[in-house]
Amino acid sequence: MDEITGRLDVDASFKPRLSDIDHEFKIAPLAWHLGNLKAAAKRRLPRGIFDFIEGGSYDENTMRANVADLGALRLRQRVLVTTPNRNQHTRILGQRSSMPVAIAPIGLMGVIYPRGEIHAARAAQEIGVPFSLSTLSTCTIEEVSAAVREPFFFQLYMFKDRAVNAALLQRAEQARCSALIVTVDTAVHPRRNRDLDNGMTVPLKIRPRNVARILAKPRWLISWLRHRPTLANLTPFVPGGADLGTVSVWAERNYKGAVGIADLEWIRANWSRKLVVKGVLDPEDAKLAIKLGADAVVVSNHGGRQLDGANSTVKAFPAIRDVVGDSAELLIDSGVRSGLDVLKILGLGAKACLLGRPFVYGLAAHGQTGVMAALRLIAQDLDQGMALTGVDDVNSLPSGRVIDPARA
Ligand SMILES: Cc1cc2nc3c(=O)[nH]c(=O)nc-3n(C[C@H](O)[C@H](O)[C@H](O)COP(=O)(O)O)c2cc1C
Repeated sequence: MDEITGRLDVDASFKPRLSDIDHEFKIAPLAWHLGNLKAAAKRRLPRGIFDFIEGGSYDENTMRANVADLGALRLRQRVLVTTPNRNQHTRILGQRSSMPVAIAPIGLMGVIYPRGEIHAARAAQEIGVPFSLSTLSTCTIEEVSAAVREPFFFQLYMFKDRAVNAALLQRAEQARCSALIVTVDTAVHPRRNRDLDNGMTVPLKIRPRNVARILAKPRWLISWLRHRPTLANLTPFVPGGADLGTVSVWAERNYKGAVGIADLEWIRANWSRKLVVKGVLDPEDAKLAIKLGADAVVVSNHGGRQLDGANSTVKAFPAIRDVVGDSAELLIDSGVRSGLDVLKILGLGAKACLLGRPFVYGLAAHGQTGVMAALRLIAQDLDQGMALTGVDDVNSLPSGRVIDPARA
């Protein structure tokens, strides 16, 4: 949808014939594959914003390893087992889901697309997958709650002042959030070279080159000027201004940093619904999180945006799965780029995955319809992968049947 005219925004350079549209999945004529959405996102966004999404920390080794290690896993092709009634429906953290995928929390979606969180939450609801709202969102918890029927997950970044954390938890509870995702892999804000080059820092560094790049994307610029996104959940706590610059500086100064045992104990005592710890890469951390009351763990390296040199999530996962067993729900994110990746993740023994950048490309390119297109492509790939590996239900994968052990 075009945020200025309200019209469906079909990428001008990409016009598939109507007869080519996949009727089974009713994919909007926006994308044949995720690469189309990524290219459209790149065309719409100023370079600094696209790099903010696309980039990782330092040399981006872990970010690349996430994708490469998932790609290196081999699926076992099984074609003489027929699967006429393939089922992708499942539950993630108790919430019904049309496939084993949930939307990952992403900060500042409104900088990517105006009112981005509402577009993404509505897309998730239409497709029937859970949505996660970041603390650093540009639409408030209450606005998202009013925009969708389905409950969603709230992701908490902790602040030094417990009163701020308590207020956020209370708001999430009142907004019917069914799970709290506590992100624990952001003790520090590591160097992200692309952001530094682009002046995407707090405060922003305005340089002539960056201004020129912004002026080259007038559609994005007009919507930015109209909507003036800010970190809307935090503005009630910030004295002296509600604009993005002022609130970002406040957030950085007041951010707690490392989340430790006492913090998780406090959260558990103050949040009665599902509790998820996101950002675990080590079996010891997984055990500790569960001991402290986590119902689920997200094996994640933040999409390669935190500790560069850390293991990819698919390489880290088996050791965590072996110690956690059935004692908590295990989710993975970082590097999932297709439904075949989702199938591999299920094959490793995870319940589901969180999807980051792929849905953001759709959001950046076309708002709600773009996110829906990304999710439909994932569902379609997953279905085809299931057909060719002889899997008829995502809830009961035959043990050891999906990943080729010789190549795992
Ligand atoms: C632009 C961007 C913003 C993000 N913001 C948040 C955030 O606010 N909170 C959070 O817990 N994780 C955040 N993440 C991490 C994602 O939740 C998720 O872990 C990661 O994107 C998964 O990797 P993938 O993008 O390779 O799928 C962000 C990631 C990106 C790319």
